[in-house]
Amino acid sequence: MVQFRNVLAFLALTALGADANRGNVQRRAAAAASPAVSPVNTQAQLAFLSDILGRPATPDMIANLDAAHMNSVIKTEVAKSNSQGLYPENTVVSALETKNPPKFAPAAKRIVITGDRLANINAHALYAAAAYCANGLSGWTCGDRCAPGIKVVSTFKDPNTDTVAYVGYNAANNEILVVYRGTSSIRSAITDAKFWKADATQGLDRLQVPSGAKVHSGFLAAANIASDFVHQSINTILTTVPGSQDWNLSVVGHSLGGAISILSAVELLDYLGDSWNDKISVYTYGQPRTGNQVWAEWVETLPFASRISRTTHTNDIVPHVPPTLLSFMHHQTETWIDSNGALNTCSDSTSAEAKDCANSEWLYSIDAHLAGYSPMPMGAFC
Ligand SMILES: *[C@@H]1O[C@H](CO)[C@@H](O)[C@H](O)[C@H]1NC(C)=O
Repeated sequence: MVQFRNVLAFLALTALGADANRGNVQRRAAAAASPAVSPVNTQAQLAFLSDILGRPATPDMIANLDAAHMNSVIKTEVAKSNSQGLYPENTVVSALETKNPPKFAPAAKRIVITGDRLANINAHALYAAAAYCANGLSGWTCGDRCAPGIKVVSTFKDPNTDTVAYVGYNAANNEILVVYRGTSSIRSAITDAKFWKADATQGLDRLQVPSGAKVHSGFLAAANIASDFVHQSINTILTTVPGSQDWNLSVVGHSLGGAISILSAVELLDYLGDSWNDKISVYTYGQPRTGNQVWAEWVETLPFASRISRTTHTNDIVPHVPPTLLSFMHHQTETWIDSNGALNTCSDSTSAEAKDCANSEWLYSIDAHLAGYSPMPMGAFC
C-alpha cells in the first residue's frame, strides 16, 4: 500500500503535475515584470484542467493543484483503467522499484538566446497562437494573432480527431508555413490509455525508420489525417506562387500541435524528397513527449535535425507528459523560456533530455502552458 501511494504521488508530480504556491508567486512576479504577456483567464484554465482530468475542475484546483487532490483523481483514473486492463500500472510500479528517482539539476550551462534565433522562435509562436482562431484563419482576420505578411492558402479541420491546421506562406521570408493547432481535447489525446504507441513507420514510404521506433498513436493519427490536405496545399503553393520551389518550409505548432508538427515534418520530408533536406524547419511550443527513445534518437539524425526548435516555458506541465516512466522521451533541441521571460539554450548535446531546462522544474502548471510562449496566450481565446 505504501508502494502504491508512492506511485500515485509520483504520478501526481510527473504525469499530471502539482502547482504549489511557490510557483504561482514566481509566475505572478514574472507576469508583473513583463506586461506584454496577457494573463490566461480562469475560465480557460478551468476548461483545460477539466479536459485533463475528464471531469469538471473547480477554481480551488487551479489556485493550488495540491498533490492530495491530484492523488485522489489519479487513483480513480488508474483504478478505472486498470480494471479495463488498459493502464500499464504494473509496469510503472516495477519501473519505480528498479529505477532511481529523477535527478533535478539547477541552472547549469544555459545561455540566453538573442538576435535572429530569438526573433524566429517568437515569430513562429505567434503563428501557432493564430491556429487557435478557428473563424479568423481563412481570411487571416484574427487581430493581433494574425501577423502581417502571411497569406493563408487553405485551412483544415477534422471533427473526429479535432485536428485543425492551416497552410500559407510568408513571401518576404521565402517561407511556406504548415501550422497545427493543439486539439482542445488534450486529455483524450495524452492520457487516454487506448492511445498507446504505434510503429513510427506508419504513413512513411521512403524514410528508413529503425525497428523499435514508436510514437504516440493519437498524435500519429492526427498527423496522418491531415497529410493529404497538407500535401495538396503545399503543391498549390509550389505551382502557383512564383519562386516558391526554392523557399523554406516551416512546420509549427503548440501543445499537441507541436507533437503533430514533428511527425508531420518527418512525413513531409518522406513525401517531398531529399531536395528538401536543408529547407525544412520545425518550431514547437509546449510539445508533449511524442515517441520513445529509439524514435527520438532517430529524429536527431534527420537532415533537418539542426533546425528543430522545441521551446518549453518555465513549469509548463505538457512537456512532462506522457511520462518517461512510460518510456516516452523528447527529441532535441529544447530551448527554454525562464521565469524572466528569457529564452535559453539547454545542455542537450547528448541524446538525452536536458536537465537544466524544463526538467529542472518539479511543480508543474497549466497556466504556464497557455501563457508565456507568445504575447498572445495559446488556447481558444478568439
Ligand atoms: C532558408 O533558410 C536558410 C536558413 O536556414 C537561409 O540561409 C536561406 O537563405 C533560406 N532560403 C531562402 C530561399 O530564403
